[in-house]
Amino acid sequence: MPNGNGESAARIPVFADVDTGVDDAMALVYLLASADADLVGIASTAGNVGVDQVCRNNLGLLELCGVTGMPVSRGADGPVASALRTAEDTHGPQGLGYAQLPSGDSTLTTYDAAEAWVRAARAHPGELVGMAVGPLTNLALALRTEPALPTLLRRLVIMGGAFDYRGNTTAVAEWNVSVDPEAAAEVFAAWSAPDLEPPIVLGLNLTENVALTPALFTRLAAAAQSPTAPMSVLDDRGTRSVAANPLIRVLEDAMRFYFEFHFDQGEGYLAHLHDPLAAAVALDPDIVECRPATVDVELAGTLTRGMTIADWNGRWGRPPNALVGIGVDAGAFFERFIARVGPFAHRLG
Ligand code: BDR
Ligand code: CA
Repeated sequence: MPNGNGESAARIPVFADVDTGVDDAMALVYLLASADADLVGIASTAGNVGVDQVCRNNLGLLELCGVTGMPVSRGADGPVASALRTAEDTHGPQGLGYAQLPSGDSTLTTYDAAEAWVRAARAHPGELVGMAVGPLTNLALALRTEPALPTLLRRLVIMGGAFDYRGNTTAVAEWNVSVDPEAAAEVFAAWSAPDLEPPIVLGLNLTENVALTPALFTRLAAAAQSPTAPMSVLDDRGTRSVAANPLIRVLEDAMRFYFEFHFDQGEGYLAHLHDPLAAAVALDPDIVECRPATVDVELAGTLTRGMTIADWNGRWGRPPNALVGIGVDAGAFFERFIARVGPFAHRLG
């Protein structure tokens, strides 16, 4: 990114762990559209859809965005200690709503997603920013093979949990943590040693403040110079985009399914951009306000398994292992999202 002196400031190496997923796809596009980001690899984690479909989605999205040579790694088939659940009701049968992605010629890395975490961290010691926006399965597996991972990373941003807030999967548990609670517990334990920079943890209490609306999507399409028919709750279900730009078309067809899901949940014709907020924070933590806390995951409760609990006041006598997001300026986030993704889509068009 030009720094005003005609030089390019160093780009931030980012490693993305995703269970793509409509909002995961939006997060990846944000990173690819950001001149200050150097996306160095993608871990495909089972979650919103099965792991092979997540791999296909990541490869197809890169193809659509004209990116070649990006290492994409396959993760474990499912959680470390429980059966996999997927969320086609939320993200569509293939994870991208009504959108169809191209299938490219690119292949996956010969090593798996856990090893990809370790390789990326060792390749950029002290510089790499990790972004984990799916179940924490592969990050937990990486920590088992490289316990020094927390010291190798510059920063870790997690989308997961719900802090003093209801869940979206059970009454109290958020999806990413609920799918693999044991993995999440392992990750929070790994950051419990003193002197580590705690991960920034964005829970539903924060990310549900970031709601994409049809009006905002219309602005995105305009920024891509690719007008489209404004989406409306009155449209027939599954109405397809008429945008000329291929990326805007895919994002609109994906978002429409996500809008319809949120509407059916009683949340309005909108969609929460959980994972894109994490992508924005990975590049610039100052866009959220955080509060340190000691976070742990309930593993045993019959009603509360997968719940994230924040000890705000040190009652457990353990040091903080998380910077929990508590405030965000959603308007500023959307300005940045549109300013980056719109022109990026236009350049692809
Ligand atoms: C999280 O769950 C997934 O469905 C989304 O992609 C997001 O990462 C929100 O709870
Ligand atoms: Ca996700």
